Amino acid sequence: MHRDATRIEWIGNSCRLLKATAAEFAKTQPFGGLTIGTGIHLETKTVALLMTLRAGGARLVCTGNLNSTQPSTVAFLRSQRITVFATQTTDPVAHHKSLEAVVAERPDLLLDNGGDLFTIAAESPYAGLLGGTEETTSGRTRLLPLREKLGMPILIINDSPIKQFAENRHAVGQSLFESYMRFTNRSTNGKRVTVFGYGACGKGTAACFRNAFSSVSVVDIDPVTALEANLDGFSTPLRGAAISSADVLVTVTGVAGIVTAADLPLIKDGAILMNGGHFPHEIDVAAFRQHPDVVRIDRYEADRIESLHLKDGRCFHILGGGHMANLVRARLAIPWSRWTSASRCRRAASSVSPGARSAPRAALFRCRRISMPWWQAPISIWRGRKVRQT
Ligand SMILES: NC(=O)c1ccc[n+]([C@@H]2O[C@H](COP(=O)([O-])OP(=O)(O)OC[C@H]3O[C@@H](n4cnc5c(N)ncnc54)[C@H](O)[C@@H]3O)[C@@H](O)[C@H]2O)c1
Repeated sequence: MHRDATRIEWIGNSCRLLKATAAEFAKTQPFGGLTIGTGIHLETKTVALLMTLRAGGARLVCTGNLNSTQPSTVAFLRSQRITVFATQTTDPVAHHKSLEAVVAERPDLLLDNGGDLFTIAAESPYAGLLGGTEETTSGRTRLLPLREKLGMPILIINDSPIKQFAENRHAVGQSLFESYMRFTNRSTNGKRVTVFGYGACGKGTAACFRNAFSSVSVVDIDPVTALEANLDGFSTPLRGAAISSADVLVTVTGVAGIVTAADLPLIKDGAILMNGGHFPHEIDVAAFRQHPDVVRIDRYEADRIESLHLKDGRCFHILGGGHMANLVRARLAIPWSRWTSASRCRRAASSVSPGARSAPRAALFRCRRISMPWWQAPISIWRGRKVRQT
């Protein structure tokens, strides 16, 4: 006998920690009577997170991030009678409307990614918002100046050591590398790759390309970090030389304007530009498109590749319009972050639900039960107690 199973089921079954957490939440109901609003990439692993929160008694109102929403994920969530406002869009205005719709439901807790929901909540505060979580580096940076205004506990998932090494370094590195291959159908061997930013994401990205036989250089504005990259065996040329030598150029800094139209004279014929940073502002795609030296743009719409042809005969390519390349048609491997979100969210809820066990102890217990290797969880769980509250 056989049965047709879905990708959502496959991924749900791969998220073993979330499955164990869901079983526990079903008994303890830590979110009973609470509404949770989410603004997290609506891709298949997020389904596993959302179903876990719902098993814990939460009512959910959801949207995604700019350009990463998967229609199949939305359809599945709606079939489970979960309220979803998101559409797959690159339009910031349309995206903002979905975010506003989530906040208009006045959730008790927010699960944010990039600071989108909390920024709206800071502008239009409402009674009953208890706090929540923020997933990523860029969201942390965005919410920090709003700390006083928000005045509520927000657990920064990004500060968890597990998030840093398991997701940002290993999973993002691997998925950016995988995305390059999937987008381009090209090999990496012998390619000269330049990675801008040697933080957690940049370290993983540089390592993955090197492991795939590329010749990798790193540019980081922080000289100490650049030295670290150098001692890790990467070349660390000056910015101009790094751009002009690159067959593949990856930005993962979290900072706007890393590669701009002013760099046009440096860009190598055939170069591929891609971004892994949260916001689509690291590569100034709009300025490239409008530059007078660009005589033609070929859009491979289905593949989300643009080829920009220059007056002097050079041509270079931009992947995914400068949005996070690994989340355009997302297939990112980030189960750790989803599990960390579930346990941190329970921790946020425990302030209103005194019966809930502390997240670290419960999580440690769960990891033992499913025989996780020690290095995968307990250390970070204990350190996770120190998660900074903004
Ligand atoms: N694509 C994904 O799936 C994904 C997942 C997690 C995080 N992110 C995002 O990736 C970005 C990087 O995250 P991170 O955790 O590695 O951040 P990080 O703060 O650890 O590292 C960023 C690095 O960029 C460097 N940098 C800053 N300005 C620079 C410049 N002008 N030139 C060169 N280097 C510069 C910094 O010195 C730092 O070393 C953030 O936007 C984050 O939100 C993306």
